[in-house]
Order: sequence, then C-alpha cells, then structure tokens
Amino acid sequence: MKPDEAGPRILEEKILHVPNERRILSNSLKIKNLFLKNRLLMAPMAGYTNLPFRSLVSEYGAGMVATEMVSCESLIRRNERAFKIMKNDLKEKPVSIQLFGSDPCKMAEAATIVEDFGADVIDINCGCPVKKITKSKSGSSLLKDPTLAGRIVSSMVRKVRKPVSVKMRTGWDTIGATGAEEFAKIVEDSGASFITVHGRTKNDFFTGLVDLDTIERIKSSVKIPVFGNGDIRSPNDAIEMLRRTKVDALMIGRGAIGNPWIFSRLLSWSRTGILPSPPSSSERKNVLFLHLHRMKKHLGEKLAILHSRKHIPAYTKGMEGGSFFRRKLMEQSSFESVINLTESFFKPFLCN
Ligand SMILES: Cc1cc2nc3c(=O)[nH]c(=O)nc-3n(C[C@H](O)[C@H](O)[C@H](O)COP(=O)(O)O)c2cc1C
Repeated sequence: MKPDEAGPRILEEKILHVPNERRILSNSLKIKNLFLKNRLLMAPMAGYTNLPFRSLVSEYGAGMVATEMVSCESLIRRNERAFKIMKNDLKEKPVSIQLFGSDPCKMAEAATIVEDFGADVIDINCGCPVKKITKSKSGSSLLKDPTLAGRIVSSMVRKVRKPVSVKMRTGWDTIGATGAEEFAKIVEDSGASFITVHGRTKNDFFTGLVDLDTIERIKSSVKIPVFGNGDIRSPNDAIEMLRRTKVDALMIGRGAIGNPWIFSRLLSWSRTGILPSPPSSSERKNVLFLHLHRMKKHLGEKLAILHSRKHIPAYTKGMEGGSFFRRKLMEQSSFESVINLTESFFKPFLCN
C-alpha cells in the first residue's frame, strides 16, 4: 500500500467501529403532515428557547425547534407576552409550540390560535414539575390524571390539522408508579401523533440518572413515534439512548445552551462516524455575538442584558479567566458595555 492510501483506509476502519445506531439521527422522519429532515431536535426550555436561540439552533441543523411553554389561558386572553414567546420565523421551520393547561376546551381553543400563528406541531406539556404549574393540574400533574390528559389531546386533535404531541416524564413520584405506559397508550388512543419522554419523574426534577428502561417500555407499548430526552450531550449519550430505548428521535435541551453547534457536530458524527472538533474561539465569539444582537433585536436592550447573563457564561464556560469575567459581567448595565467587556475577554484567545 502506498503511504497516501493509508489515510482513507484508516478512516474507513474507524467509521466501521462506530456503532451503527448513530445513523438514524440523520434520517428524515415523516409524521402526518410534518416532515423532519433529521431526528435530532431541540427541547423546549422556559427562559431560553426564544426566537434568537431557536434560530441559531436551527441554523446548526436541528430537525425541529420548540418554543417554551405558553399558557393556554394567556393565549385566549391575547396576552402580549404569550405571543412574543411564540413569535416564529420561516427560517426556523419546523417549530413546535408548547401549550400548558388543564381544561380541554381552553386547550383546544388555544391550539387553534397556535396553529394560526405558525405552529408546525402543537405540543402539550405533561412534564413541568414546577409547583406554580402543577397546582393548577397542568404540566406533570397530568401524569396523575391520564383520562384528563387524553381528553385534552382529543379535544385539541379535533380542532387542528397540525400534529398534536405530548411531552411527558416517566412518572409523578416513583418510576412507572403512575403507569407511564398506560399514560402513553391513552394519549396515543386520543390522537397524539408522537410522544417525547424526559426520562425522569416529576420528583426527580432535573437530577439523578435518566431512566432509559421506562423510556424503552413506553416506546414498546405504543405505535406512534417516541422521542427520547434527558442528558444527551455526547455521541456516547446518544448511542446509549438509541440502543437501550429504540426511540425514533432524540431531543436535546441543556446540552445546547452555550453550545448550539451540538446539533451540527452530532449530525456530522451520525453521517460519518467522526465527531468534528468543537468550534474555535473565533467562531464561538462570532456565534455568541450573533446571539446577543438577535436577543437585543427580539427582546429589547434591558431584557437582552438580563438574558446575556445566563448565555455568556455558558458560551465561555471553561475558558481561562472566565470566573472574573463573569463576575464583571453581572455589574454591566448597558448592552454596549456587555459587548465591550465580552470583546476584551475574547481578545487573548483569538489568532491575529
Ligand atoms: C431552564 C429549563 C426550562 C425548561 N422549560 C421547559 C418547558 O417550557 N417545557 C418543557 O416541556 N420542558 C421544559 N424543560 C425540560 C426540558 O425540555 C428537558 O426535558 C429537560 O431539560 C431534560 O433534557 P436535557 O437533559 O437535554 O436538558 C426545561 C428545562 C430547563 C433546564
């Protein structure tokens, strides 16, 4: 073999040793009238997944993005903030708009508003563990009342043409105690087009290991597609979830904060078996600045400063001198000073 032939041969061997399950992520998926170009999707996150963040994640290839949850009541009251949460852009298609509530009639009315507002999917929040939400029987509280959840799904499905989906946890307090499979079957029979499962119970909140066994049991108990969610940050996490649960797609939440390129990296790995290096400091800075300017445009200067305090630390995590910079960041009161400070922080990391 000539020396210049060694490269491709080695590359091929490496690819062959990468688990095959990864390939599914870059395959498309059709659900009713919804076409997903791949199976790596962004999870809804209150306070994060607004238009600026969603558009970035979309540009990095996510197969679908999701708004944070919107209250059905506030939509019916035509609350301005609710419409701002849902504001979407043709460039970020498809977009899932998530509703929370517990009254089937109101959820159905809100679903029609959301559909008219450009939703490609109308998702029902059956996972939020926050007391403010659960005390009104919404969010993860619905896991305790599958019949009500089923009525919500069927009343929405009757009113809209777009797919209605459910995002659930594995249970309320104990794993499977409220009958995760039973819940999934009821929402399927009521007309849900797919289900996303965050592999934790309501009591787990966001800690502890993701329960892949219950996700697998849910997946094998229904015919509609099931998406797996929880702690996916690397190829290993993705493979573990795909292998153990056989889900149809993966959804990433926190792993995308300060890291929107996780989608393009994992999709490239899915296609080639090779995980591209993380972006250079210069690309990191450019993306962060793009994000900051989009936030200013979408939220206005004041809110953009507040939001920048959670996004900038995420983009600069692990960089030398970061903790001092982040402390200074909290003291800035104008958008311009946030930009200037961030610019000087990045300077030593950039090549000439
Ligand atoms: C700050 C934050 C806000 C969230 N907001 C929502 C929400 O509005 N609706 C929802 O269904 N899940 C919400 N979640 C849960 C995520 O969608 C996801 O299920 C969870 O974070 C686990 O996935 P991950 O480990 O990839 O982050 C939120 C999570 C976080 C961290």
